[in-house]
Amino acid sequence: MKTEDSTIVILIGPPGCGKGTQGEILSEKLGNITISTGNLLRDEMKSQTSLGKKLRTTMCTGKLVDDQIVLNLLKAKILTEICSDGFILDGFPRNIKQANELEELLDTLRKSFKLVAIDVSVSDKKIINRIVNRYYCTECKTNYNKLYKNPIKKNICDVCGSEGKFAVREDDTEEIVRKRLKEYNKQTAPVISYYKKKGVLLKVNGDEAVDKVSHEIDSKLKKILTY
Ligand code: AP5
Repeated sequence: MKTEDSTIVILIGPPGCGKGTQGEILSEKLGNITISTGNLLRDEMKSQTSLGKKLRTTMCTGKLVDDQIVLNLLKAKILTEICSDGFILDGFPRNIKQANELEELLDTLRKSFKLVAIDVSVSDKKIINRIVNRYYCTECKTNYNKLYKNPIKKNICDVCGSEGKFAVREDDTEEIVRKRLKEYNKQTAPVISYYKKKGVLLKVNGDEAVDKVSHEIDSKLKKILTY
């Protein structure tokens, strides 16, 4: 028998639409963890295993990683972390197959989940501009942006206080972003219709500033969730 509903919020959108940024903000509000499949894959990539090397090759061409590899990493995370109160997904599902697999995975758990998908749309011009100016803290993975969000104290991470530990993602070049965007339009955009048909889709305008996007997410979510 399943216990009562927990919430899963799925953030869908092209590279640079703000899934990671909004995931962090929502995480604080809902008190749930955010699982970024991109971060899970980058952690694996750092491990220098044969899988890690294979992942680097795929991710640096802007292609999607094999479904089963991502699903295994996601499953391990959901089953080992405290996810019973729900969680936020950033970057999963990325195609219809993954959306079906997520449903199957949730069916095997002892909780029942209320699922909400948020489509964060953004124009292509903004995508490139945001991505090529992004950098992050290698210690706590907080995202920054040369144009929109630099640390309050120069060279020191606002969140973990590390000094000079900033880096740029290998796949954040204009050339690779254009490939990631193509892949998004081909494989991931259909996931939006999938959740629309299920009646669980919210749509927000990711072109706006971070606070405005977060406010729109908040006001739409509060109509269907209590937090
Ligand atoms: P992933 O890491 O998921 O990358 P992505 O989807 O391309 O998205 P990004 O992380 O680039 O952007 P974001 O939407 O999170 O924006 P952010 O908030 O960081 O995936 C990378 C790769 O891993 C994939 O290409 C694929 O190979 C593989 N992969 C991952 N998941 C997979 C899966 N399920 N299946 C198969 N393969 C998978 O913001 C970007 C920048 O803009 C930041 O600098 C931020 O500060 C700034 N910013 C954010 N919002 C705003 C705003 N409103 N105004 C101004 N600046 C903003």
